[in-house]
Amino acid sequence: MNAPAPNLPVALPRIRQLDEATANRIAAGEVVERPASVVKELVENALDAGAGRVEIAIAEGGKALIRVTDDGHGIPAAELPLAIARHATSKLDGTDLMAIRSFGFRGEALPSIGAVARLSLTSRAAGAREAAGLSVTGGRAGPVVPAALARGSVVEVRDLFFAVPARLKFLRSERAETQAIVETVRRLALAAPAAGFVLRDTGGDGEGRVLLAAEPGRGDLFDARLARLAALTGPETARAMLPVAAERDGMRLAGHAGRPPFARGNAAQMFLFVNGRPVQDRLLAGAVRAAYADLLPRDRFPVVALFLDLAPEAVDVNVHPAKAEVRFRDPTAVRGLVVTALMQTLAGAGHRPGGSVAAAFRETGMRPDAATLGQWFRVQAPAGFAEAPPGFAAAGGGAPAGGAPGPLPVPGPDRPLGVARAQLHDTYILAETADGIVLVDAHAAHERLVWERLKAQRAANGVAAQALLVPEIVALPADALSRVLDFAAELRALGLAVEPFGPGAVCVRAVPALLGAPHAAALLRDVADGLAETGDADGLRARIDAVLSRMACHGAVRAGRRLTLEEMDALLRAMEASPFTATCNHGRPTSVSLSRAELASLFGRR
Ligand SMILES: Nc1ncnc2c1ncn2[C@@H]1O[C@H](COP(=O)(O)OP(=O)(O)O)[C@@H](O)[C@H]1O
Ligand SMILES: [Mg+2]
Repeated sequence: MNAPAPNLPVALPRIRQLDEATANRIAAGEVVERPASVVKELVENALDAGAGRVEIAIAEGGKALIRVTDDGHGIPAAELPLAIARHATSKLDGTDLMAIRSFGFRGEALPSIGAVARLSLTSRAAGAREAAGLSVTGGRAGPVVPAALARGSVVEVRDLFFAVPARLKFLRSERAETQAIVETVRRLALAAPAAGFVLRDTGGDGEGRVLLAAEPGRGDLFDARLARLAALTGPETARAMLPVAAERDGMRLAGHAGRPPFARGNAAQMFLFVNGRPVQDRLLAGAVRAAYADLLPRDRFPVVALFLDLAPEAVDVNVHPAKAEVRFRDPTAVRGLVVTALMQTLAGAGHRPGGSVAAAFRETGMRPDAATLGQWFRVQAPAGFAEAPPGFAAAGGGAPAGGAPGPLPVPGPDRPLGVARAQLHDTYILAETADGIVLVDAHAAHERLVWERLKAQRAANGVAAQALLVPEIVALPADALSRVLDFAAELRALGLAVEPFGPGAVCVRAVPALLGAPHAAALLRDVADGLAETGDADGLRARIDAVLSRMACHGAVRAGRRLTLEEMDALLRAMEASPFTATCNHGRPTSVSLSRAELASLFGRR
């Protein structure tokens, strides 16, 4: 900036006290970022008031309406004006900023919301003979008036950001804002498993569509949290959770950790809490992923619900107005606790990391030493098989009927992936090539093949569907359900026919024929994840690709299933013929090779 020339008369800027409306609007910028932040603040207020049931109604992604109804202790009529005044709170007396036991304490939410929307507050304090109400519009408060309400409070927010149109432009699509609201409520519902929750999209009026519902939890905290997890993530996921409990240096970690096979394609189901508060903390999320690092590919995220409790002095929740971030006094100790507790839990359940061998293969391509090779090449003779894996079995020309195998085919240059010789650890195909050996990850390779075939079918004349003899009813969490039904038409074009089936369930009538006989519930769960994973901006095409990729996994031959030599060979030939089979759907290699020269040098033959 140019300094004004000395001695010239300039208009001195004046320091003024901002009026309350302006101050509130500025504060609102931090507290109320999007509709989901309003939902968070209002639900937290309900929980702070001791609510046993919280009902949330939204319309147009929360932009038109957010209404939170609770049965908590309410607000006395005389205190209603204070509730919407800045820095007025019943939760802090100003003596100890450290010992905070409630969600709220800054006294900023209601005035901030009132500054940027039409806010109305109706409440009946416990024991009061009458209810009262108060409205604020764009920062201007009306009078306290008598109202009709049996108990608790109703807080209604309409036309969010009407007073700050610039903000409106930053909001994402209705669908994306709705999804953010669902995530917010989900996290709070896990934080307070004793309270019942219903989230509805009213679409303007009427009863509306249920996006999330959870009954009040019973039993001890552990059971209540597990039941809540089941309500929010599906019963199958909840059944696959391992209990976590660890203590160290005055910190306690408790909760549930998902087994690796139940991992998801995004972090939406990593639920982390610090002193009861849902947080999106990098340090904690990083520690969780580190604990799973050797058990999961980099693009898979475990399902966890972890509750860290520590002395209030050891953590600062007052870093950000929305309180989603926290600062730990001793981050190293926190990370250590989380990583060790999770690794012990997982190892105790038999999930041991593959260790240096798998890591070496992944990192370096393929240069194991001789000892490592010895470890890997414990060859198992291929045994009988139950069902033919769909998609490539037919190419093999029939399996030998248990008799002596014919003469071994000779690998030649026409078969770059070689001739299948054996299956190792029920997972890898060992093939002999003209110039060395190849190991193929059968599941990864087949998954890729099925994906490519699904994409080719879709591009040609639509994915072929196979009607189920007996339609399957699949229960899904409310948000997954609504996503799947929203895309029912698109999914039908992908060979997956689903119909609504009462609250909380869909009826699956057909599946893509290429998938054989997939597990319908697991397939739908993954399809719903695939739909959630891509943002609006990515468009329908990206969604469809994501869904097809998820589907392919269900059609692929499972790791752990024995293959015949014919099946293995058919897979290798199909890989050679199909594009993009060098990597699986997630970008990992499907095969690694060792040349004869490399083998010779490993054994010191040169
Ligand atoms: N649903 C509710 N039930 C009872 N009291 C409420 C409710 N919502 C708000 N209040 C009262 O209004 C005050 C201000 O709320 P808020 O602006 O969110 O600040 P904070 O939650 O930080 O105290 C709260 O301290 C509480 O006393
Ligand atoms: Mg509050």
